Amino acid sequence: MEIKGRGNWGSQFGFIAAAAGSAVGLGNIWKFPYMTGRYGGAAFVLVYLLFVLLICIPIMNSELLVGRKSQKNAVGAFKVLAPGSPWFIVGVMGILAGFIILSYYSVIAGWAVAFIFKSGAYMAAGADHANIFVGSITSSVAPLIWHAIFMFMCIGIVAAGIEKGIEKYSKILMPLLVLIMLVLIIRSVTLSGAGAGLSFYLKPDFSKLTAEGVLAALGQAFFSLSLGMGCMITYGSYLKKDQDIPANSYWIAGTDTGIALLAGLAIFPAVFAFGLEPGAGPGLTFITVPAVFAAMGPVGHFFGILFFFLLTIAALTSAISLLEVVSAYFIDESKWDRKKAVWIMGIIIFLLGIPSSLGLGIWSGVKILGGRDILDSLDFIASNILLPLGGFLLCIFIGWYWGTDKAIEEGNTGAKGAITLGGGYRFLIKYVAPVAIFIVFLKSIGVF
Ligand code: PHE
Repeated sequence: MEIKGRGNWGSQFGFIAAAAGSAVGLGNIWKFPYMTGRYGGAAFVLVYLLFVLLICIPIMNSELLVGRKSQKNAVGAFKVLAPGSPWFIVGVMGILAGFIILSYYSVIAGWAVAFIFKSGAYMAAGADHANIFVGSITSSVAPLIWHAIFMFMCIGIVAAGIEKGIEKYSKILMPLLVLIMLVLIIRSVTLSGAGAGLSFYLKPDFSKLTAEGVLAALGQAFFSLSLGMGCMITYGSYLKKDQDIPANSYWIAGTDTGIALLAGLAIFPAVFAFGLEPGAGPGLTFITVPAVFAAMGPVGHFFGILFFFLLTIAALTSAISLLEVVSAYFIDESKWDRKKAVWIMGIIIFLLGIPSSLGLGIWSGVKILGGRDILDSLDFIASNILLPLGGFLLCIFIGWYWGTDKAIEEGNTGAKGAITLGGGYRFLIKYVAPVAIFIVFLKSIGVF
């Protein structure tokens, strides 16, 4: 995999590994279960799936083909395809979203790093898993150190050019993560009292669905698939003309969605079996998963260490895509050299993350959007506003400005399989996706 300079992906698999690596991360294993728990379970999951299918897959195709056509970063792409117009602002918004997301993403990833070393505590007899979690995130200094360590790893990888190694490792480690999740699922669904969790997760109760929940499902779909901020434009820009964009889009979206669904299946049966609260918030995964491992006896110790190690790697492959988008902009447009861009951006993002971390501890009195703490507010702004807005504008750009004919032609170049872009894609991008996003926005601000 080649991302330094303006190279191409070494192989079809290298590209899928990188793009799926970007998509699969904390969004699937930390945020998806936590959002599902907060917004009522199965009904949220169904709405999420609908958004992935009707809105996000067409947008995935669109970002990739815009990237390949223009051979540029998120901002440069619009400058090439729509010279002299203000469309490049969509890219600028994306870079901004990338900054914001990575700042708190790295804080959460820092928790995962810390948990690699906490198995002694959560495996101890009678351990109170909620307490262990709360204790570890509310202190001031330790979470910042983990946040710094995680950002430092990101900077190291992206500064070196991400082709060196990540692809090789994620090929082995990501399937291993899926394997451990299967172990977790087996233990989780066989706990006594697991049934209530399964029905919470699988039997939709639409009376629990709120307008806020629908907006969150939309934001979660964008967040989990790394869409709406130019990440897939940037990755698409390294694609060769003979690579199959429609098939890749399905692969990436399918893998990402599959892993999120598995994470939910591992977590909800255990949540109910242990009498935990499904709406517990951002701690859900960090409390439930250690509790399941503790219920496994001594082997749980080993699985626990491995799980949080793999979660850290999954978070790392997503975080480097965020840092890559932000840095690629400064490398291409401001002609900074790679190291300078990555270090400066990395340090700024680290500093930006500090309030999110402190907001859970000594600054927990600070509430911003509707009673949300700092981290939650930033996540709301990025995931539920900036990403869907970026996606919406991309639909308008392709459907009504640049033209779906050109998009379809570029998208189908290199497509070999049964799936090609055509009338269905045109209809979704021009009408269904933008109208749906618009309606969800209006509904969530209470227009009707
Ligand atoms: N998709 C990543 C995850 O689920 C997060 C991410 C969002 C990465 C946006 C890049 C861009 O963890």
